[in-house]
Amino acid sequence: MNKHVMDKAIGETRLDRNTQGIIGKGVDRYEGPLKVSGRATYAYENLAGEDVAYGFVVPAPIGRGAIKSVDTSKAESAPGVLAVISGDKILRASSQPMAPAAQTIDGEVFHYNQPLAIVIAESFEAARHASHLVTADYEPKQGRYDVKARETVRKPDAMPMEPVNERGDFEKAFAEAEVQFDETYTTPSYHAAAMEPHASVAKWDGDRLTVWSSCQLLETNVKQIAAGVGLDVSKVRLHSPYIGGGFGSKLGIGPDAVFASLGAMTVGKPVKIALTRQNVFQQTSRRGETVQRVRFGATKEGKITCFAHETDTTNSPGNGFFEPSGISSVFLYPGKDRRIAHTIVETDALMTSAVRAPGEATGMLATESALDELADRLGIDPIDLRRMNEPKVNPQDDTPFSSRMLLECIEEGAGRFGWGDRPQKPGTRREGEWLIGMGMSSASRKNSLMKSSAEIEMSPDGRATVRTSMTDIGTGTYTILQQIAAEMLGLPLDQVDVELGDTALPASSGSGGSWGANSAGSSVFVAAEAMIAELAKRLDVDAETLTLKDGHAIAGNRQIPFSEILKGEAITVLGQIEPGKTDEETHQASYGAHFAEVAVNVVTGETRVRRLLTVGAAGRILNHKTATSQCYGGQIWGIGYALEEELVIDTRNGLMVNHDLAEYHVPVHADVPKLDVVLLEERDTHASPLAGKGIGELAIAGVGAAINNAIYNATGVRVRDYPVTMDKLL
Ligand code: MOS
Repeated sequence: MNKHVMDKAIGETRLDRNTQGIIGKGVDRYEGPLKVSGRATYAYENLAGEDVAYGFVVPAPIGRGAIKSVDTSKAESAPGVLAVISGDKILRASSQPMAPAAQTIDGEVFHYNQPLAIVIAESFEAARHASHLVTADYEPKQGRYDVKARETVRKPDAMPMEPVNERGDFEKAFAEAEVQFDETYTTPSYHAAAMEPHASVAKWDGDRLTVWSSCQLLETNVKQIAAGVGLDVSKVRLHSPYIGGGFGSKLGIGPDAVFASLGAMTVGKPVKIALTRQNVFQQTSRRGETVQRVRFGATKEGKITCFAHETDTTNSPGNGFFEPSGISSVFLYPGKDRRIAHTIVETDALMTSAVRAPGEATGMLATESALDELADRLGIDPIDLRRMNEPKVNPQDDTPFSSRMLLECIEEGAGRFGWGDRPQKPGTRREGEWLIGMGMSSASRKNSLMKSSAEIEMSPDGRATVRTSMTDIGTGTYTILQQIAAEMLGLPLDQVDVELGDTALPASSGSGGSWGANSAGSSVFVAAEAMIAELAKRLDVDAETLTLKDGHAIAGNRQIPFSEILKGEAITVLGQIEPGKTDEETHQASYGAHFAEVAVNVVTGETRVRRLLTVGAAGRILNHKTATSQCYGGQIWGIGYALEEELVIDTRNGLMVNHDLAEYHVPVHADVPKLDVVLLEERDTHASPLAGKGIGELAIAGVGAAINNAIYNATGVRVRDYPVTMDKLL
């Protein structure tokens, strides 16, 4: 097979030259109808009609303690039960979805509802019934549950960023600053709460394990499953063709994947396990609480001279991941003397991990409110303050920005939203019982490109098939990869098939960190270039002079159908992209701006978001419809983070109080106004051969702060403790 590897971004490409106009077009996701008509097979629906067993997870109903003994005898003799698996194997497998087997937990309960055992039975009902018959003796211990108590603090691992970024002498510069701004913001824990629960089906044939699970990063996830059951990774194949949302909670495997596998290896038939909604909340992962101190030193005219953003966040013992609230702060705000730092406060609650836009989603709730507050104190319009303080190069290390359209997004949004009509003085515009206000914020999301590969096969009839272990988490991956291949190969969309979600296919980046479309898409781009080179070779022409259009190769005055070039034989090529030098030479991020108008009821304190506009710049947009939908999602999460979402952990005993969607409030239709999204034209040729950047997590960054700033503008009440619920406004 012809393998092409590209490790750097390039300037003008075939996507700019002989364009068919397929790239960028808002074409419908072709897998959408499969999903809404039940024809897309989700993890739990596999092996339908086959003789399978069902597993049910038994949780430990304490927050912290030692397990003295477990009695499974009653459960084992219950009707239909095939096996009850308990002991350290279970505890180890369930302790860390991001890296199972990394931690030995030796009969200890580290968080409320931690898996204690699994029951495997002939039916789901029999397994669930028997799960209630498992009993255990515990020696309870006092757990640490409160981020603010700071009982145990430690340095995080350098994941997903360096925890401490310093330049100059912040404390000295701050002490000498004309204006000193120093406020602390808090955000609660949050849950990803994807629609499809974590679910797996596992089949063991005595030597090889096949798992269907709902996962974002198959290449990592298959290793985690193999480690969890003690197999070599070559013995495990993971399928994940359709995923009902992940939002970070499926970057690692859920306990269901290892449990179903252990179950299948124990009872000799395939095992299905779906976590209940309550167990999705309590046994996968969550976003950590944060306490964020934001300090700006400035001149009276509003020039920021120094900046510090210091975050306390939580994780459980043995876990080094941290909510990187300062991830955007490193490059977004100026200040010669600066300090962006993170500390883990260890708590004995469910491990914390990545949830949509880890870092920006919480950090910009703080910093973008702080800038609004600073502007207000200085008597400057918040947009003018941002204009005055736009850095020319990355303030952390002076690297140039690959492109940075932040101010363009702000200007565009201000014009469209009617920013000039914003009440100058807070609390002055009233319509009956409602106070009206407007607020804005910046948005940014660091861009990353990951190693990814894909193959393209052209069959003798001229159809193309794209194959990669990439996932479609609901974002439209199938469709955009089809668009890229069709555009590059001069084929109509329906002549391109896409196969995803299988570790037997070429290894991909998977979906996470907003890198999926660019990374997997670039690998398809490279493979298509390889295919073009192959066709050119067969025609004995220079690939640069070859144009592919409507299933034909056009060289000079010759026009040859693909089927004629292929002569009855399929061609398969492999393309691979790797992050290259341009990653280090420039700082890459997507940018945007949010504008919100709210009405706050003077009697009840209820906030209604009336209008929400997001303007984004994320390089070449591959599909305007799917990109816009990602932004709608971010905006709605922003409404949730501003007004509703809060995962409550009882600081006395570690119970996750609101562990389902009845109690964990997310925005519903009635909470969401008509949403506006505008995406600016941009090409970032440093970022990838597609000249695109990540967009998935851009729109959630900052939007909650825009709403909070609008609430201040409406009421004159500044809330620094999210969510901004009614009680905090009255
Ligand atoms: Mo995202 S939190 O990297 O799925």
